[in-house]
Amino acid sequence: MPPTLDIRPIAGALGAEINSVDLSRDLTDTLIAAIRHAFLDYLVVYFRDQTLSPAQFMAFARCIGKPMEYPFVKGLDGFPEITAVVKRPDQTVAFGGNWHTDTTYFVAPPMATMLLARELPPKGGDTQFANQYLAYDALSDGMKSLLSGLRWVSRSDKAEASRTREDRSTAERTVLIADHPVVRTHPETGRKSLFVNLAHSAHFLGMTEEESAPLLQFLFQHQIRPEFTCRFRWAPGSVALWDNRCTLHSAINDYNGFRREMHRIALAGDVPV
Ligand code: SIN
Repeated sequence: MPPTLDIRPIAGALGAEINSVDLSRDLTDTLIAAIRHAFLDYLVVYFRDQTLSPAQFMAFARCIGKPMEYPFVKGLDGFPEITAVVKRPDQTVAFGGNWHTDTTYFVAPPMATMLLARELPPKGGDTQFANQYLAYDALSDGMKSLLSGLRWVSRSDKAEASRTREDRSTAERTVLIADHPVVRTHPETGRKSLFVNLAHSAHFLGMTEEESAPLLQFLFQHQIRPEFTCRFRWAPGSVALWDNRCTLHSAINDYNGFRREMHRIALAGDVPV
């Protein structure tokens, strides 16, 4: 039996803090099973006050899944799967500063992403998450039936995404494209979720951008209704682990003039169905 964790939900829709866990040690099979259980239940779980070296962060990530490299930002020396997500005081653009699911322009997008807070502004810099099971469940039967069978095209160069990666990498010129179902079934829970996102959904497969825009715009607004969301206030040493198969997230860019540095690891996923 997994050990009982001290779990405190942070909102009605999703998100929970897991307390009294030291991720730098004690990564037993039973503890990892309990964390995975909470991750599937709450979709995003947070751990506070973790003192993790890059090697320890990688060790925890490997307990949850298979770390993969991010295509547009070079990883840390010696740890290519750890990306430093940095906003400098002179920058006004924040990486991930709009609603998205990570790197859906891959045929198999990551199953999960982990973020470790290294340096934070004195205020601001929170991250919001949205539960896409709830977004799907709240649609009418007519809309569910319309969306069933529809696919969409994800492009890494969609303006909404690429402008949040300004000045990041010359590899930016590479364009990655994949298509996915609008509604996907979670491979572990079997639940259906809405699987489009403002940053990367360019158009429906077989339709033009103009034809797709009205329905996509409706879905982009619908999927971030406040009652589907939670908001996490970081502190140095906070770690978040979110399920990229059934959530969206957005980094709130409200701290111009200050530095924020997060370390990010994405975990390989499967082809959405
Ligand atoms: C991301 O979108 O991966 C980064 C989110 C954040 O920095 O809060």
